[in-house]
Amino acid sequence: MQRTLDSFWKNSSEKLFCLAPMEDVTDTSFREVVLSVSKPGSLHVVYTEFTSTDGLCHPVGKDKVSHRLLVNDSERALLKQLGIKLVAQIWGSDPEKYHKVAKELTEEYTFDGIDINMGCPVKKIVKQASCSALIAFPDLAKEIIQATQESTHLPVSVKTRTGLKQHTTEAWLSHLFSCKPDALILHARTQKMMSDFPAEWDQLAIAAKVRDAISPDTALIGNGDVFSYQDAQEKINQYPVDGVMVGRGIFKDPRIFHPGHPEPSPQEQMDLLLKHARLFIATWGNSKNFNMLKRFFKIYIHGFHGAAELRGLLMETQSISQVEDLIHSWRGKDLSIL
Ligand SMILES: Cc1cc2nc3c(=O)[nH]c(=O)nc-3n(C[C@H](O)[C@H](O)[C@H](O)COP(=O)(O)O)c2cc1C
Repeated sequence: MQRTLDSFWKNSSEKLFCLAPMEDVTDTSFREVVLSVSKPGSLHVVYTEFTSTDGLCHPVGKDKVSHRLLVNDSERALLKQLGIKLVAQIWGSDPEKYHKVAKELTEEYTFDGIDINMGCPVKKIVKQASCSALIAFPDLAKEIIQATQESTHLPVSVKTRTGLKQHTTEAWLSHLFSCKPDALILHARTQKMMSDFPAEWDQLAIAAKVRDAISPDTALIGNGDVFSYQDAQEKINQYPVDGVMVGRGIFKDPRIFHPGHPEPSPQEQMDLLLKHARLFIATWGNSKNFNMLKRFFKIYIHGFHGAAELRGLLMETQSISQVEDLIHSWRGKDLSIL
């Protein structure tokens, strides 16, 4: 298929700030929360959670995974207003399924790009010869990229790590760059490092050299241990990257893409939590476990007197109305910032 000439990855004149794909985190409701507090021009790309190509190609399994691709109209409106691109991330090990899924994502959805996960180190996934396991099978990895590129005009990117047990950045990325992906997102850790050791950004300098030699038009995005906007800018200044992707940094500060934002008041934090909880319930109803929301409470409720107590009470809630009542009863309290 004719490749798009206006890939947002390649044609951006500015450095790109991206929110990483995170399973059970970056669904449409959380993305909307992040978008709603981001400053125009400070966030450029967001991702869906990773979605199985096996699942999407399975007549019954499809219903179990396609929720990961849901985009609420309210999120879509914000994406448009802010000019932010939404990329669907997929994973699997069968090139034919990538071909089929990429076609479907192009014809039946409205994503701005397709990303192939070649980085996830989780054992049950790796056992299926998928994601970071593909680092051991570069020919299959290339077939997968080519099969995807052939069936879509959308930009195709790859998100990966630097190697399996050791960094093999140069050899591994040479294979990937030979397919001329629109972007390569490099998480600067090996499969073995999981996220337990510091990211080694020197690997981005190695990656840039390989990219320059083989596929100079591919955007190179660095990922790993970026915990503030300032951090992201420092990485951009220090390493030859076209952008930075933030993962767990969003748990520290959902306003990370609003540089210089004033310290939010406890009331504003509670409002953001409520916004998220309401969106989550409006989107998923009972189809997702209410307890999934609880991992987010700490993101919003911290840094003020009584935050620990409120978090404890929030963890005991079982419904959105209990969350609403609890937050309401805390509004009148003296919640000075620590
Ligand atoms: C809860 C969680 C879920 C994740 N899910 C995905 C995923 O679906 N796809 C993916 O490519 N990476 C996933 N990752 C990895 C992140 O995208 C990112 O590469 C990693 O966290 C390193 O970035 P960080 O150091 O900024 O967190 C996940 C990470 C976390 C913490």
